[in-house]
Amino acid sequence: MSIKKYDVVVIGELNVDLILNKTDVFPEIGKEILARQMNLVLGSSSAIFASNLSCLGAKVAFIGKTGADLFGDFVISSLHSKTVDTTGIVRDRSCSTGATVVVNFNEDRAMITHPGAMETFSGNEVNWEIIRQSRHLHISSYFIQTSLQKNIGDIFRKAKQLGLTTSFDPQWDPAENWKIDLDQILPDIDLFFPNEAEILKITRSSTVEDALQKIKPAAGIIVIKQGNRGSTIVQDGKAHLLPAFLNKEVVDAIGAGDSFNAGFVYRFLQDKPLEYCHRFGNMIAAVSTTAAGGTGAFSGRQEVFTVLKEKYGYEEN
Ligand SMILES: Nc1ncnc2c1ncn2[C@@H]1O[C@H](COP(=O)(O)OP(=O)(O)OP(=O)(O)O)[C@@H](O)[C@H]1O
Ligand SMILES: [Mg+2]
Repeated sequence: MSIKKYDVVVIGELNVDLILNKTDVFPEIGKEILARQMNLVLGSSSAIFASNLSCLGAKVAFIGKTGADLFGDFVISSLHSKTVDTTGIVRDRSCSTGATVVVNFNEDRAMITHPGAMETFSGNEVNWEIIRQSRHLHISSYFIQTSLQKNIGDIFRKAKQLGLTTSFDPQWDPAENWKIDLDQILPDIDLFFPNEAEILKITRSSTVEDALQKIKPAAGIIVIKQGNRGSTIVQDGKAHLLPAFLNKEVVDAIGAGDSFNAGFVYRFLQDKPLEYCHRFGNMIAAVSTTAAGGTGAFSGRQEVFTVLKEKYGYEEN
């Protein structure tokens, strides 16, 4: 794909998801209940993006931080198993790896996250040698990375000066303050990937049209993810909605947005037309809904392209 060592470098948060299923009742204070099924899986938007993009065939490196603990080992071995380069991941003895405990009960769920290393990872722990060897920089999860946050604008600016292209997915703000200086960050972002709820919250708008009016002057290409309705690309002031490749038997939509980003960026780096990147993003997001969790549908490149062919008649050209 290129003479640089990596196609994409991801800077982001790392955590595990401990998912408890088949509980008899919902947890109550002071009582112990049983969950008849349990899964420990790779969590975090940034890691799911890196993992699925690598599975598609891109050379991906990850820069982030975990604790020097078992969950950190698990995160790193999960990324390794998808051939993501992890030399840029700092292991810190003074904090724990981030973890989310998810309790599912019928259609409802409760989640508790310990941010750990996700909150202490800072700009001065970023390995610039890896960035210099990459064609494209992706950053996700602005709000949960409370230490890195203040450096993100500068990191994007410096990466652009080094000749990289860039993409950014803000993700949800668990604190719901939605404080971000988009005017400072957006000029250095080629692809901006919020979902609809996020762009409305960030711009304090009640409609997408209103939100776009506020950010368009500073932005490059914006793609707004809209769940099972699909996604809208905005370029040169024109918005175009591409309906989802609707999966009527969704297993879950965990990581569908990150998989969308992976599909879009994969084709973007092959210089495909934006319309093609957009379609491929929607398709890869749909593939993600066919198996459990964020990476379940991405066991290998062959498997993904088999699903693409069987479900959507897609053949690589
Ligand atoms: N039922 C579905 N069938 C097919 N595709 C879907 C379905 N639901 C969502 N998608 C695809 O997934 C994409 C991303 O979904 P969504 O809008 O939930 O992103 P997100 O909220 O950023 O997700 P994430 O939880 O990964 O952050 C959509 O743009 C659409 O293309
Ligand atoms: Mg998202």
